[in-house]
Amino acid sequence: MKVTVVGAGAVGASCAEYIAIKDFASEVVLVDIKEGFAEGKAMDLMQTASLNGFDTKITGVTSDYSKTVGSDICVITSGIPRKPGMTREELIGINAGIVKSVSASLIEQSPNTIIIVVSNPMDTMTYLVHKTTGLPKNRIIGMGGALDSARFKYRLAEAVGAPISDVDGMVIGGHSDTGMVPLTRLATRNSVPVSHLISDDRLNQVKEDTKVGGATLTKLLGTSAWYAPGAAVSGLVQAIACDQKKMFPCSTFLEGEYGLNDLCIGVPVILGKNGIESIVEIELNDAEKAHMQESAAGVSKTNALLEL
Ligand code: 2OP
Repeated sequence: MKVTVVGAGAVGASCAEYIAIKDFASEVVLVDIKEGFAEGKAMDLMQTASLNGFDTKITGVTSDYSKTVGSDICVITSGIPRKPGMTREELIGINAGIVKSVSASLIEQSPNTIIIVVSNPMDTMTYLVHKTTGLPKNRIIGMGGALDSARFKYRLAEAVGAPISDVDGMVIGGHSDTGMVPLTRLATRNSVPVSHLISDDRLNQVKEDTKVGGATLTKLLGTSAWYAPGAAVSGLVQAIACDQKKMFPCSTFLEGEYGLNDLCIGVPVILGKNGIESIVEIELNDAEKAHMQESAAGVSKTNALLEL
């Protein structure tokens, strides 16, 4: 199992680190445009191998895509991250050009690869890869919902006063401050609906805190977060690499599912060796459906800015 991660910045390096620590891939190739940077990150990570107990071989290259040949999974994290006060949508101008050329270079070397898009605005970048590469839709996956759901669980556990492993919940919709749809109605603590455990106001606060999860961190850190994004990507990569058939909310191209068409947005999917093996349609109530429609309208508006 060979995995390429493009972009050796904080998110890309965290992805490589978590993939290596989980020790299911034989090889991770880090690619960056900054001379020597990916090589340096790869060497530093390799020097943790004996300490952290993994055998995954991590190498780094400066824009030499020939070294990515035959990758089973490619993760695109390249592009500029957002700064405090910026929305993910504002990054579209610069990141669209980068994601388009990176995905073309990856596919040239690995025509059978599965691509995971992390660069923002993520749903629109996933749509761009769909529109420009001709890859089948099961092999194009946008990472957002897995991260947003992890942030949701963090906030749920805090509100309920429970260990995180006791709570479960999912965020669907667009990966943006207004587009996320945290499914509070379906969130549970050991099968008990959290709505039975905390007040509506508190649950609403959890929802609002989840939606600005990335923005809160950007304000604190001065740049976009990386540990949870990296860990979320590694979970998707592992589900594919190990054919786990696990369910994650991921951005995928919709053709009528959830009443939506011609966009990529977060919905529950099953991940296995073929990438997205199926889309799971869950019954939403009227408020959730309306929120999803609104979220989709926001994503489509950003998609319209692409020069396809
Ligand atoms: C986030 O931290 C990477 O979009 C990203 O939400």
